[in-house]
Amino acid sequence: MKTKCVLAAAVLVGAAVPLAAAAAEAPPGASSCSGCHPARAGVETAVPRLTGRSASELVAQMQAFRSGQRPATVMNQIAKGFSEAEIQAIAAWYAEQH
Ligand code: HEC
Repeated sequence: MKTKCVLAAAVLVGAAVPLAAAAAEAPPGASSCSGCHPARAGVETAVPRLTGRSASELVAQMQAFRSGQRPATVMNQIAKGFSEAEIQAIAAWYAEQH
C-alpha cells in the first residue's frame, strides 16, 4: 500500500513537470498566431510584427478586432475565437519574444 502511494506521487510529479515547461514556452493558442505572426524577430513577413510589443497594446488591438472597431481582413474573425484569458496569455508571451 505504501509503495503504491509513493508511485502515485512520483507519477503526479512527473506529469506536472512537462506541463510547467510547456507553459513557459508558449501558452495554448499561440501556435495558431505564429503561423502568420512569427514568434522571432528577424523573420520578415507581410503581416504586422507582434514580438517585443507591449502586452497591453496587443490585448487592446485584439479587443478592437473582436468588437469590429478596427477593420481587418482576417483578424476580426480570429480574435472572436479566443477568450480574454487566452488573449492576455498570448500577448504576454509575444511581448517576451525577441
Ligand atoms: C491567417 C493569418 C493570421 C493569423 C493566424 C493571425 N493573424 Fe493577427 N494579423 C494578420 C493580419 C493579415 C493582420 C493585419 C490586419 C488584418 O488585415 O486582419 C494582423 C494583425 C494583428 C494585430 C495588430 C498588429 C498591429 O500592428 O496593429 C494583432 C495584435 C494580431 N494580429 C494578433 C494576432 C494573434 C494574437 C493571433 C493568434 C490568436 C493572430 N494575430 C493570428 C494575420 C493573422
